[in-house]
Amino acid sequence: MSSVVLDKVTKVYPGGHLAVDRMSLKAENGEFLVLLGPSGCGKSTLLRMIAGLEEITRGDLWLDGELANHLAPRDRDVAMVFQNGALYPHRTVRGNMAFPLEIAKADPTKMRERVTELSKVLHIEETLERRPGTLSGGQRQRVAMGRAIVRQPKLFLMDEPLSNLDAGMRTELRMEISALVRSLGVTTIYVTHDQVEALTLADRIAILNRGVLQDVGTPAQIYNDPATAFVAAFLNSQQLNLLAATVHTPQNQYVLLDFGPHRLIIPWSDPRAYAISQYVGGQVLVGVRPDGLAPVPESYDGPAFFGRVRALEYHGHEWLAYIECGVPAVPVPEPPDRRVAAHGPEGPGRLGGMVRRLFGNREEREEQEQVGQHPGSGTHRRADLIVRLGGRPVWRANDAAKVGVDVSRLMLFRPDGSRIDTPRR
Ligand SMILES: Nc1ncnc2c1ncn2[C@@H]1O[C@H](COP(=O)(O)OP(=O)(O)O)[C@@H](O)[C@H]1O
Ligand SMILES: [Mg+2]
Repeated sequence: MSSVVLDKVTKVYPGGHLAVDRMSLKAENGEFLVLLGPSGCGKSTLLRMIAGLEEITRGDLWLDGELANHLAPRDRDVAMVFQNGALYPHRTVRGNMAFPLEIAKADPTKMRERVTELSKVLHIEETLERRPGTLSGGQRQRVAMGRAIVRQPKLFLMDEPLSNLDAGMRTELRMEISALVRSLGVTTIYVTHDQVEALTLADRIAILNRGVLQDVGTPAQIYNDPATAFVAAFLNSQQLNLLAATVHTPQNQYVLLDFGPHRLIIPWSDPRAYAISQYVGGQVLVGVRPDGLAPVPESYDGPAFFGRVRALEYHGHEWLAYIECGVPAVPVPEPPDRRVAAHGPEGPGRLGGMVRRLFGNREEREEQEQVGQHPGSGTHRRADLIVRLGGRPVWRANDAAKVGVDVSRLMLFRPDGSRIDTPRR
């Protein structure tokens, strides 16, 4: 078991590409930490730096309290499993799993016992004498995990180990990974772009975007109280409802979120009211997940939006409604893409130039970041509110719809997408 500390770890690839930007993070002894983020955000780069397969450009890596930047991979006592866990094709499953023990010159009887025992845990007992070519994808990944873990490393690193498997196998293996890793108590860092994997597996999730750490916390913390609108949106299986509102405090009676055609009242008794009122006269972003909204009858006089049903979507276990509510769509604010700036003062080169022409440079963009006039949103797309209806579509297309709002579920962000810190209820 091992603790892992990253202190402002940065990776600039040759050619100037900034893949990981000043990442500070700790995995506790025995913890299951998931690195989550969209493709290209730097997850694999980070994992490879921990394993010693990629050089750290700046910053420090500590393994078990020891500075490890320049430790050779074999001296880190780390095991790694990749997306398509390559196996030795001419060795049997047993031979593959025993390989790290053979290298370590383990006692043959003990080795045999250990592999047999682990194969039972991984449900691949009956394949031990077979070659990898005869196995299913799920079985091959089990063997790869077995081979990685057989020597009981201090640190287990997994890079999207399930992403090549079909959905059923993914679910099955997900539960087994969780059970295996927890029974061994080995510190694990697990990379995925799949929010369900992250939420179900992790003790804590660290979420990355464009090489920058966005948030870190338990699954419940980052789901219910995300640090940025990006995190809120990324952890949503449907699109996050994100609207801009102006803050008022009419006659100091309550805090009013004014969405144009819609208004929501936050009473002073609400513990978040004071923090929101600091933005009086200015704009905030209001996020609400589809399950924080619900159809209500016309006579309902609680907090609500209204609009027209543009479409209904059948998802098997539930219906979703898309409600046209007459306000502009707000793109989810993302951190500035510093990866372009990493090319140095002589300019960002051709691609960087193109990115700048498309999106404006950072200063221009910040000036434009008055909500609703985001660069690239020139079409003034209208927002749809997405509402979960459960198993029964209570509306039909084109119906007038009233949508009740669970005000306690509103997530409040500044126009740059960072959370407005409000006391938790
Ligand atoms: N060897 C490399 N040289 C240059 N750029 C790289 C190299 N490997 C990865 N990158 C770039 O670094 C960024 C992060 O890559 P990666 O860590 O693989 O992301 P992820 O695993 O999150 O998909 C990407 O933009 C990728 O193109
Ligand atoms: Mg990757």
